[in-house]
Amino acid sequence: MSTSPKPIPFLDLVADHADVRPELDAAWSQAVDTGGLIGGQAVTDFEDAFAAYQQSDICIGVGNGTDALELILAGAGIGPGDEVIIPANTFIATAEAVVRCGAEVTFADVDPETLLVTGDTISAAVTPRTAAVMAVHLYGQMVDLDDVGAAVSRHQIALVEDAAQAHGASWNGVRAGSAGLAAGFSFYPGKNLGALGDGGAVVTNDPALAETIRSMSNHGRSSHSKYHHDLLGRNSRLDALQARALAIKLERLDDWNDARRSAAGWYRKHLPATVRPLTIRDQSLAVHHLGVIEVPEGTRDEIGAALDEAKVGWGIHYPVPCHQQVPFQAGPDVSMPVTEAAASRILSLPMHPHLTEEDVVRVAEVLSGHSALA
Ligand SMILES: Cc1ncc(COP(=O)(O)O)c(C=O)c1O
Repeated sequence: MSTSPKPIPFLDLVADHADVRPELDAAWSQAVDTGGLIGGQAVTDFEDAFAAYQQSDICIGVGNGTDALELILAGAGIGPGDEVIIPANTFIATAEAVVRCGAEVTFADVDPETLLVTGDTISAAVTPRTAAVMAVHLYGQMVDLDDVGAAVSRHQIALVEDAAQAHGASWNGVRAGSAGLAAGFSFYPGKNLGALGDGGAVVTNDPALAETIRSMSNHGRSSHSKYHHDLLGRNSRLDALQARALAIKLERLDDWNDARRSAAGWYRKHLPATVRPLTIRDQSLAVHHLGVIEVPEGTRDEIGAALDEAKVGWGIHYPVPCHQQVPFQAGPDVSMPVTEAAASRILSLPMHPHLTEEDVVRVAEVLSGHSALA
């Protein structure tokens, strides 16, 4: 009698939560017992801890990562008439944030080895209306801050970091949040630091920008009075229950990121030479939000079917490049050849802190045993 293979999940939130379950239960009970659900000390404590973790001065908790990015742009006065450069290879939220603040998106292609934007691809997209670049530290690896920083200075445009997939990642020891104007983080549950629902944060060293964003995210409230509103704001706050959960998980984040790095090392050791894990630069301490590989052209569907058969979770990040998504469809003259070629070859393998070497070996065996990769 053949036994069905043990499933290897794409990510395992239940196992993450089991690591911290008693602390989570206590924190939720405390919130319910005290009634402190919006704002207050729990939010401030988490904001302080996360700012310190990201080596930045200030953190403002907000409702989600997309709002964090939009609030940074709007808080910096970027809006109608401005263009913001974003990578064509990103999650659609990066583009949404630009359009929602009234600016226009300009796409930049990416480096074929890392699939991240570079100084050259940014320079190729600059126009006289460019106000900023939103550099996305995709898949858990930061962009080359030296190269991107030099381009940004040369063109005199602002650098905003989309760090939704890069909690704890660094470039030459520098974490997201201090290289440019500000960084936006998502705490969507599947992120390296995930809430038990939606959440996000802005991290910055600029106190004036921070004050504007804090006000904008809380109905434009004056810092002096709950009943005076200085700005046209909105409601995008990190709630206290999520802040408590995040503070507990933040304590584990270094261990969890280390475990992801071990998993990435096992993949490099065991995967067949016919697939290519994305390059991690020497200056980069990556946190491996996703385990992305490139497979030979035309083989992804078959490989995906073999992974399904073996009960191995997988995904594609992202199958349709941002500049080809319906709301952002650029004209036929906009071509992003590296992003477009990668979109048909990338495949994300299971990646989470509870992956074992045995799991990775089994995933690698599914790939090595496939005729397309032999
Ligand atoms: C690169 C990137 N930017 C922005 C976001 C938006 O974050 P959120 O889903 O919290 O709005 C995400 C995550 O979903 C993301 O992966």
